Amino acid sequence: TPGVRPLIAGNWKMHGTLREAAALAEAVRAGAVAEALPADLLVCPPFLHVQVLAAAMLGQPVAVGAQDCHAAAKGAHTGDIAAAMLRDVGATHVILGHSERRADHGETDAVVRAKTVAALAAGLVPVVCVGETEAERLAGQAEQVVSRQLADSLPDGFAGIVAYEPVWAIGTGRTPTEGDIAAIHGTIRAALATRFGAAGAGTRILYGGSMKPGNARAILALPNVDGGLVGGASLVAADFLAIARAA
Ligand code: G3P
Repeated sequence: TPGVRPLIAGNWKMHGTLREAAALAEAVRAGAVAEALPADLLVCPPFLHVQVLAAAMLGQPVAVGAQDCHAAAKGAHTGDIAAAMLRDVGATHVILGHSERRADHGETDAVVRAKTVAALAAGLVPVVCVGETEAERLAGQAEQVVSRQLADSLPDGFAGIVAYEPVWAIGTGRTPTEGDIAAIHGTIRAALATRFGAAGAGTRILYGGSMKPGNARAILALPNVDGGLVGGASLVAADFLAIARAA
């Protein structure tokens, strides 16, 4: 999107020891300072590693985010983490509504919207994920599902990032065709522009799902693809940096 600097975000999911996380972040940092990459970088480690990495990346060209937060500001929610706690330890972003959380934890669009409100209130940039299942894609309902998720997951006044991750492309090595990616991203852009005006026209829309060094350049060149949300390939610094280089 003209005037929008791409973002390459790594979703590390539930992987790694603290030592491995620190080494991976350091390798990404070293790569980012060694060359002028055409994209901003974000890494999202498990909760437990957010504080240490945020401290290590302070002032460096690698932002640190979390993979979820609770919708409440505080309270009796055993095992949960509030958005303000993440901000307090240096996180700047939070992934919300990832399909794995929607599936594993029953997160609905309404839950994702409430979490997005909480993230914005705490000063975090939400990265809100949407995407159809394979059955929905085969039934010709991809656009419809994504439009509904978008309408119901984003609160009024949304200022953040949207990630399109077709569920069937996550960790499978399969991706939609370039035409299909462009079509959905175009639909998302139109919905954002209609609802949020100029802000929506400039919102970053990331693609996620089996993005690798080998397919990144073609995907990132598509209209309305403003970066990537990378899973598996983000766990290898050289691959993550190669994707960033392709932006
Ligand atoms: O959030 C990113 C993720 O779901 C994509 O995973 O492993 O297909 O790149 P992967």
